[in-house]
Amino acid sequence: MPLGKNPDPAKCVECHADKSKGKYVHTAISIGCTTCHGVTSGTDTTVIKLVSPANELCFTCHDKSTDAVLHGPYAQGNCIFCHSPHASDFPNQILASAQDLCMGCHVRARLKVNRLKRTATVPWGVKMKLNQLRGWQYINLNKTLTANHPVEGHPVSGPNAALGKDAPPITCLSCHQPHHSKWRNLLPSTLPNRPGVETDQTALCVTCHKYPYF
Ligand code: HEC
Ligand code: HEC
Ligand code: HEC
Ligand code: HEC
Ligand code: HEC
Ligand code: HEC
Ligand code: HEC
Repeated sequence: MPLGKNPDPAKCVECHADKSKGKYVHTAISIGCTTCHGVTSGTDTTVIKLVSPANELCFTCHDKSTDAVLHGPYAQGNCIFCHSPHASDFPNQILASAQDLCMGCHVRARLKVNRLKRTATVPWGVKMKLNQLRGWQYINLNKTLTANHPVEGHPVSGPNAALGKDAPPITCLSCHQPHHSKWRNLLPSTLPNRPGVETDQTALCVTCHKYPYF
C-alpha cells in the first residue's frame, strides 16, 4: 500500500505498534523507524529496506571496539543474533537472558545444527549460516548444564558461594565480556597486563577465591 513520499515515522506504529513497545526499548526507536528503514513509496506499492546492510547498520551509530580480541558475532556486525533492534523483555534488548544467550551457541544440547543445509539455529529462533560461526567451540557442561567449566566441577551458575551469600550469582558474564576484550577468551579487561593478548588466568581466579585457593 502507498505510504506517501516522506512518511511520518509516527505512521509506522499505527500498524507496527509492538515494535516500539516492550519492557526494554532500544533508545534509537525514539528517533523514528525510518532512521533504519528506508521507504520508497509508489502509487500502489511500498518497498521498505534497511538503510544499510544488516551487519553494518548497528556500527553506523555504535563504534566498533578497537580491542585486540573481538567476539566473532560482534566482529562480523551480527548484533541481531543477540539483540532485538527494537525491544525485548531483557535489559539491553537481548533476545534471551545473558546466560541463555551464551549457552545457546556454546552448549551442544542447545544449538541445533543442520549439517546438510550448513545452518545452525539457537533456542530463541535466530538461524545463522555455519560459516558465521567460524572458530566457535562447545563447552562441556554436566547434565544439568550448571557446572564443569572452566575446570571440572566448576559452577557456571547458581550462588557465588566463594564470595558469600550477598554476592551476585555466577554467570558466564562473571568471567567473560560479551563483545570484546584485551584478553583472549574475552576475559575481563580489568585483569592485569601481560604482553600480547594473554593475561594471567590466576588473576581471574583470585577475584573470587583466596590464595592459595582451595
Ligand atoms: C497501513 C499499515 C502499515 C503501515 C502504516 C506500515 N506498515 Fe510496515 N507492514 C505492514 C504489513 C501488513 C506488512 C507485512 C507483514 C507480514 O508480511 O507479515 C508490513 C511489513 C513491514 C516490514 C517487513 C518487510 C519485509 O521485507 O519483511 C517492515 C520492515 C515494515 N513493514 C516497516 C514499516 C515502516 C518503517 C513503516 C513506516 C514508514 C511501516 N512499516 C508502515 C503494514 C504497515
Ligand atoms: C540511529 C542510530 C542508532 C542505530 C542505527 C543503532 N543504535 Fe543502538 N542506540 C542508539 C542510541 C542513541 C542509544 C542510546 C545511547 C547509547 O547507549 O549509546 C543506543 C543504545 C543501544 C543499546 C543499549 C540500550 C538502549 O537502548 O539504550 C543497545 C543494546 C543497542 N543500542 C543496540 C543496537 C543494535 C543491536 C543496533 C543494530 C540493529 C543498533 N543499536 C543500532 C542509536 C542507534
Ligand atoms: C536501530 C535500527 C532500527 C529501528 C530504529 C527500527 N528497526 Fe525495524 N528492523 C531493524 C532490523 C535490523 C531489522 C531486521 C531484523 C532481522 O532481520 O531479524 C528490522 C526488522 C523489522 C521488521 C520485520 C521483521 C519483524 O521483526 O517483524 C518490521 C516490521 C520492522 N522492523 C518495523 C519497525 C518499526 C515499525 C520501527 C519503528 C517503531 C522500526 N522497525 C525501527 C532495525 C530497526
Ligand atoms: C553474543 C551476543 C551479543 C552480540 C553478538 C552483541 N551483543 Fe551487545 N550485549 C550482549 C549482552 C549479553 C549485553 C549485556 C551486558 C551486560 O548486561 O553486562 C550487551 C550489551 C550491549 C550494549 C549496552 C552495554 C554496552 O556495552 O554499552 C550495547 C550498546 C550493545 N550491546 C550493542 C551491541 C552491538 C552494536 C553489537 C554488534 C556490533 C552487539 N551488541 C553484539 C550480547 C551481545
Ligand atoms: C550467535 C552465537 C554466539 C553466541 C550467542 C555467543 N557466542 Fe561466544 N563465540 C561465538 C563464535 C562464532 C566464537 C568463535 C569466534 C571467536 O573467537 O570469537 C565464539 C567464541 C567465544 C569465546 C572464545 C573467544 C576467544 O578468544 O577464543 C568465548 C570466551 C565466548 N565465545 C563466550 C561467550 C559468552 C560469554 C557468550 C554470552 C554473552 C557468548 N559467547 C555467546 C558465537 C557465539
Ligand atoms: C569462573 C569463570 C568462568 C565462568 C563462570 C565461565 N567461563 Fe568460560 N572460560 C573461563 C576461562 C578461564 C577460560 C579459558 C580456559 C582455557 O584457556 O583453558 C574460558 C574459556 C571459554 C571458552 C573458549 C573455549 C574453551 O573451552 O576454552 C568459551 C566458549 C567459554 N569459556 C564460554 C563460557 C560460557 C558459555 C559460560 C557460561 C555458561 C562460561 N564460559 C562461564 C572462565 C569462565
Ligand atoms: C565469579 C567467581 C569465581 C571465579 C572468577 C572463579 N571461581 Fe572457582 N568457584 C567459584 C564458586 C562459587 C565455586 C563453588 C563453591 C566453592 O567451592 O567455593 C568454585 C569452585 C571451584 C573449584 C572446586 C570445584 C569442585 O569440583 O567443587 C575449583 C577447583 C575452582 N573453583 C577453581 C577455579 C579456578 C582455577 C578459577 C580461575 C580460572 C576460578 N575457580 C575462578 C567461583 C569462582
